[in-house]
Amino acid sequence: MPQVSDKYAHTEGSPIVAINMKAKALAKEGREIFNFSIGVPGFLPPQHVYEAATKAVNEDSGAYLSSAGSDELREAFLNLLKSQGFTYSLDETCATMGAKNALTSLCQVLCNAGDEVLFPAPFWSNYIQTVQMADAVPVPIECGSEQGYKLTPEQLEAAITPKTRIFLFNNPSNPTGMVYTKAEIAALAVVLKKHDVWIISDDLYDKIIFDGEEFHHLLTAEPELRDRMVIVQSVSKSYGMPGWRVGFVAAPKDIIKMMVSVATNTFMNIPHVSQKAAAAALTGDQTFIEERCAEFKQKRDAVMDSLESIEGLVCPFPKGAFYAFPDVSHFIGKKYKGQTITDDVRLCELLLESHGVACVPGSAFGHPGALRISYACDLHTLEKGMVHFETFFSEVEA
Ligand SMILES: Cc1ncc(COP(=O)(O)O)c(C=O)c1O
Repeated sequence: MPQVSDKYAHTEGSPIVAINMKAKALAKEGREIFNFSIGVPGFLPPQHVYEAATKAVNEDSGAYLSSAGSDELREAFLNLLKSQGFTYSLDETCATMGAKNALTSLCQVLCNAGDEVLFPAPFWSNYIQTVQMADAVPVPIECGSEQGYKLTPEQLEAAITPKTRIFLFNNPSNPTGMVYTKAEIAALAVVLKKHDVWIISDDLYDKIIFDGEEFHHLLTAEPELRDRMVIVQSVSKSYGMPGWRVGFVAAPKDIIKMMVSVATNTFMNIPHVSQKAAAAALTGDQTFIEERCAEFKQKRDAVMDSLESIEGLVCPFPKGAFYAFPDVSHFIGKKYKGQTITDDVRLCELLLESHGVACVPGSAFGHPGALRISYACDLHTLEKGMVHFETFFSEVEA
């Protein structure tokens, strides 16, 4: 067989998808599985989204479409930005095949080989591959549970070097569920203002926030960052539409031009039906998001009640997204039914094999010694699975 590219020969698939597949395979064998692995929101979009999609099927011409996304879709995104106080124009935005595609293309258009991309760790696991596929270098900044998994301005300042090209920031955070306060955002923005780096703000979970907390943006804190700011959004999480593959970017127009050129040369355009459905989601009634948030909060509370009852386990209280990220390092090195829990990966394997609870090891997010619980499934399954989760930890030998 001829050789393949060195770069892609070593590119790994998503560890989250791998665990999800394993959990699904066990379920197929008839095991009772509590799948807390994959980050799907667990609800479907409202009826008007399906109505728009159905109408779109009937009017579809089958033609290639604009690689930037339809005007209607981008206008809908611009209105969303406007509601957050940001004014952008059509040529400063494009639609993408979900946020994944936005992030991959952005790293390719913003980075030269060897440039560094900074982001706080724990991080969304795809960030590593996304950066490496652009021949850039991922530089995670370790933010442990003792600092609530949040990046401090001092850490950011110390991490920026002449090689830094991008600071990639995800708030609320996948995998920790942390939400930065207004003061924390302002302090990070002050540091960023001093350094000439691109900022990619991955705002996917901005509407999934609880306890009266609010979403605060670096751009609101420092409007002068606008020339270097790139906002990434998607309908995947807040609108319950991960499979429809629609994301967005707002950025200076030269960047958008490059993004559109990459799109034209790769996937060409987002399917008409998905564009129409996403536009309907963004422009239609938004009250359902509050309802979904109330449900997520109830699930978050159930998970935290359970986690807080487990001695030795520490979990900074998540205020957004639909993840909890308990630190389980207390249990590493101990024995479970005669088997040593060598690390977080082994712990998650034992948890899945013994109790059918599928969680993603923290090492997949750059933070070994923890695990991620995605609590978007229905409350009954969640509560039942958490009882098994607690039982597992009670069975670990002291
Ligand atoms: C932080 C973060 N960014 C980006 C993505 C990708 O989202 P999309 O489904 O829009 O590609 C995800 C998906 O899990 C995510 O959690």
